[in-house]
Amino acid sequence: MRTQAAIIGAGPAGLLLSHLLHLQGIESIVIESRSREDIESTIRAGVLEQGTMDILNDTGVGERMRELGALHHGIELAFGGRRHRIDLTDLTGKAITVYPQHEVIKDLVAARLAAQGQILFEVSDVAIDGIDGTAPSVTFTHGGERGRIDADFVIGCDGFHGVSRKTLPEASRTEFQRTYPFGWFGILVESAPSSEELIYAQHERGFALISTRTPEVQRLYFQCDPTDHVDNWSDDRIWAELHARVETNDGWRVNEGRIFQKGIIGMRSFVCTTMRHGRLFLAGDASHIVPPTGAKGMNLAVSDVKFLAEGLDSFYKQGSTGLLDGYSERALKRIWRAEYFSWWMTRMLHTFAEATPFEREMQRAELENVVGSRALAQALAENYVGAF
Ligand code: FAD
Ligand code: DHB
Repeated sequence: MRTQAAIIGAGPAGLLLSHLLHLQGIESIVIESRSREDIESTIRAGVLEQGTMDILNDTGVGERMRELGALHHGIELAFGGRRHRIDLTDLTGKAITVYPQHEVIKDLVAARLAAQGQILFEVSDVAIDGIDGTAPSVTFTHGGERGRIDADFVIGCDGFHGVSRKTLPEASRTEFQRTYPFGWFGILVESAPSSEELIYAQHERGFALISTRTPEVQRLYFQCDPTDHVDNWSDDRIWAELHARVETNDGWRVNEGRIFQKGIIGMRSFVCTTMRHGRLFLAGDASHIVPPTGAKGMNLAVSDVKFLAEGLDSFYKQGSTGLLDGYSERALKRIWRAEYFSWWMTRMLHTFAEATPFEREMQRAELENVVGSRALAQALAENYVGAF
């Protein structure tokens, strides 16, 4: 097989890139290790920044998001028994949409298939060759047979555990990493929303987050030991923990309901520089990870591929390599700011077992400052909606 861009991974990064390239008249083939059913049902992120919403709308894949997603103009920070609203729209002129990542995936897969785009599911043994020359290739097993794609470019959108980053020569990459001593326990619940807006709660027992999926299904998270197991958490224990962490002095309580999904995710900050070697480019989780507190993971994947699509467009239309050469630097500028914001939110809202009494007071004072100062609330809001 021959194409212009061979894309590894059908997550938000790979699928959106393939869609954007198609709109620019550039051919691509996407290969994915999992099945279509699997990628369309894996529960992950939920918050779309304004810029992400704009790209989906402007490129004709925003219809279901507008119909099923919920536009939010604010978030709440809860601590010390009180809730404090951060008015995102008043502070930034922008908003966010709560719309699950797997629904974005469904919309993008449908758009690619409707345009006769090629996505090969359930591939294995993927290897990348020839990235130092102008004719790189990707080999893989599909349906029991070895396949090969010859391309002008290979784009690694294969997430943190994929093969692409490891294919960049060790000498050309530097990796920065922080692993947090806690994870998030996430549940899906059948109930009405407990709140009109997302609540990020800081409590001595640990962080908790009230989010939503639909008017009937809610998404809740709470800080936990990353090595814990879901079987240790009965429904009663989960509700007791959530009530203790999020309830406020005004009598507000989180709504209980049937819990139909439980999972634990680890938390890390990670950045790989550079994001490019020769004809291989990295995008999304393949090159960086943020802890989920800032809701940035999927949004960063989207902005990476927007930059990459612009670079490939100017390569094919003007014969210019300027934007491709500047891709890593341009993307990393936004990535490091999002890394900072995600780390800052994580540090401000979680309970660190090793924190001294003084550090705990500093954490509480920082929250008081953020909700008490329009300037600090605005800085949080700008980062949260991705206003730069
Ligand atoms: P991915 O979505 O990881 O897509 C990569 C794709 O590549 C996958 O489909 C994978 O199967 C495929 N792949 C891997 N290796 C190969 C290979 N060798 N060959 C072919 N295909 C391959 N972010 C938030 O903001 N909030 C959250 O609550 C949140 N929850 C998360 C929960 C989990 C369990 C995980 C893993 C991530 C979560 N994230 C969250 C992060 C967010 O979902 C990611 O940042 C986002 O999915 C990044 O998109 P991506 O396309 O770069 O990578
Ligand atoms: C969700 C996930 C996040 O990481 C976050 O910060 C807010 C909401 C969610 O899954 O709904």
